[in-house]
Amino acid sequence: MWSEWFDRPAQVALVEAIRAVAAQAPFFTPLMPRTGKPFSVRMTNCGPLGWVSDRDGYRYQPAHPDGAPWPPIPAALLEAWRALADCPVEPDACLVNYYGAGAKMGLHQDRDEETFAAPILSIQLGDEAVFRIGGPDRRDKTRSFRLRSGDALIFGGPARLAFHGVDRVVAGSSTLLPKGGRINLTLRRVRPF
Ligand code: SIN
Ligand code: MN
Repeated sequence: MWSEWFDRPAQVALVEAIRAVAAQAPFFTPLMPRTGKPFSVRMTNCGPLGWVSDRDGYRYQPAHPDGAPWPPIPAALLEAWRALADCPVEPDACLVNYYGAGAKMGLHQDRDEETFAAPILSIQLGDEAVFRIGGPDRRDKTRSFRLRSGDALIFGGPARLAFHGVDRVVAGSSTLLPKGGRINLTLRRVRPF
């Protein structure tokens, strides 16, 4: 974990870059496979591939549900990947999660990628999250800690398949996003290399 890897001006610039992504690829509400229950988190993506979930299941696809290709990953995120990921290839997907009031994410593994050889780089913007992480088995003991705006976290090596989730977001804990809430960015490598 790198506390405030992005300083405040870098966070402001990242928010601007994400606004530009969302202007091309609007946030959508994913649905749980089978049940069709909506997630409380809204999502969009940038990069060659983007993660989506709907009644047909979880998957990566090259286009937004509206049909347009995802916009490119902003340069500042690629720079962070090169600095932190210790990976010989670029990420080919960046999931953008937005947590508004009351949004959370249940414990899960990231295992829809075709390779687990690359780490996942997670970047936080806006309100603090109470983040929970365990081990590779759902029954493993978990612990929670706060992720704050600007923090960067790597899930790699033995932690690549760790169960993780967000218990809650602490409303009003950051002034970065004018309307509040939290943005989480995860840079991922989906295709084998
Ligand atoms: C995720 O697992 O996709 C997001 C986790 C987070 O919001 O920190
Ligand atoms: Mn995840």
